[in-house]
Amino acid sequence: MYAKELSPEQLLKVIFDYTAKIASASNLKSVLVHMANMGKEMIRADRCAVWLIDEPNQQLYTTVAHGVDELRIPYGSGIVGTSIISGQPIIIKDAYNDDRHNTNTDLQTGYHTKSIITVPFTNNDGHIIGAYQAINKLTEIDYFTSQDLEYLSLAASYAGKSLESVMLHEEIIATQREIISTMGEVGEIRSKETGNHVRRVAEYSYVIALGYGLSEEEAELLRTASPMHDIGKVAIPDSILNKPGKLTEEEYEVIKSHTKIGSQLLRGSKRELLRTAAIVAEQHHEKWDGTGYPAGLSGEQIHIFGRITAVADVFDALSAKRVYKPDWPLDKINNLFREETGRHFDPQLIEVYFRELPKLLVIRERLVDVE
Ligand code: C2E
Ligand code: SIN
Ligand code: SIN
Ligand code: FE
Ligand code: FE
Repeated sequence: MYAKELSPEQLLKVIFDYTAKIASASNLKSVLVHMANMGKEMIRADRCAVWLIDEPNQQLYTTVAHGVDELRIPYGSGIVGTSIISGQPIIIKDAYNDDRHNTNTDLQTGYHTKSIITVPFTNNDGHIIGAYQAINKLTEIDYFTSQDLEYLSLAASYAGKSLESVMLHEEIIATQREIISTMGEVGEIRSKETGNHVRRVAEYSYVIALGYGLSEEEAELLRTASPMHDIGKVAIPDSILNKPGKLTEEEYEVIKSHTKIGSQLLRGSKRELLRTAAIVAEQHHEKWDGTGYPAGLSGEQIHIFGRITAVADVFDALSAKRVYKPDWPLDKINNLFREETGRHFDPQLIEVYFRELPKLLVIRERLVDVE
C-alpha cells in the first residue's frame, strides 16, 4: 500500500497542528522532534530529521524519537553536510548511485536508504544554521519532487526562525547553570576541607526532593540552586571559617550571617534560578521547631527547598571531617536524624531520608573528597 499525497486541506491541518505543538514545546529536543515529524507528514517521507550545526565541535547533530537519542556526524559529511556547506537543497532518486551518500549508516542500522531530499535553513541574519533531511518517499512515485521541495522549504523557513530563539534560550539557561556552579565553588573553596561539599549537597537535595514528591522540574531547579547555599561564606573571615577548635559565641554569630549575606547577594535578581538560590541561602539553617537562624521560622513557614537543603547539608557536614570535628560513622548520623525529627528537621523529610539512604550513599561514594 502506497501513501497518497496530502490534499491542500490536509497540508494546512498538519501545519496548524504542528506549529501549535512546537510553540508549546519546552526544550530544543522536543522542538526538533516535532519539526521533523511535521516535515515527514507534509511530504510523505518514511523518515525525517532536522539537523543543526554545532560550530565549536565541527559537527552536525539531531534528535530522533522523543528526545532520547542524539545523532552526531562530522560537519561536512553525507548528503546533509554537502547541502549545508553549499547552501543548496539536494534531491536524490537513488542514494546508492550517489557517492556522497554515507552507506556506513545503513550498514549499521540495517535500513535501506533510497530517495533523499535535504533543504538547508537560515536564522534571522541569513546564516545557515541547519537543514531538513527526509528519506524514502512513500508514494507510488518513490522519489521526491519539486513540490516536495517547495513544501519542505516552507517547513525549513519556519524552522530557521523558531529554532534560533529556542537555541538562544537554552544557551542562556546553560550559562546561568555554569555561573551558579562556579559561584558555589567560590563559596566552598575558602573553607578548605569541604571539597565536593556543594556538589554532593546538590545531588542529595535532588534525590530527597523527588522522594518527597516534588516534580522533576522542581527537583532540577533545586539541584541547580542549592550549590549556592553557602555563597555568603565568601564574606566570613578565614580566621573564623577555618578555626580548628570550637567557636566563641561572637564568632558563631559572625558565621551565622552567611545566610543573610547569601540571600542579599542573590535576591535582587529577576531570574527564577537565582531567586530560588536566595531562598535556599537564607533558609538552610532554619529548624522545623523554630530554633534555627536567621529568622527563627518554623514548620511550613520554611520553604520546602530550605527544609530539604537542611537535611542534605547536615548529612554532608556530619559525613565529612571538618577542621573542628571528625567525620561521623553512619549509625551516629542516623541516630541524630532520628532524634532531631520534628526538632531540627521536617519529619516527612526524615522518612524520605531513610527511604532514599541507599541512593544517598552511592552519591557520597561517587563524589568522595580526595585528600
Ligand atoms: P558545617 O560544618 O557545614 O555544618 C553545617 C551544619 O551541620 C551545622 O550548622 C550543624 O547543623 C550540622 N553539624 C555540623 N557538625 C555538627 C556536629 O558536630 N554536631 C551536630 N549536632 N551538628 C553538626 P551550624 O551549627 O549552624 O553551623 C554552621 C557552620 O558554622 C558550619 O558549617 C561551620 O562552617 C561553622 N561552625 C559551626 N560550629 C563550628 C565550630 O565549632 N568550629 C568551627 N571552626 N566552625 C563551626
Ligand atoms: C560548607 O561549605 O558548608 C562549609 C563548610 C564548613 O563550614 O567547613
Ligand atoms: C554553614 O555554612 O552553615 C555550614 C554549613 C553549611 O551550611 O553547609
Ligand atoms: Fe550554611
Ligand atoms: Fe553547607
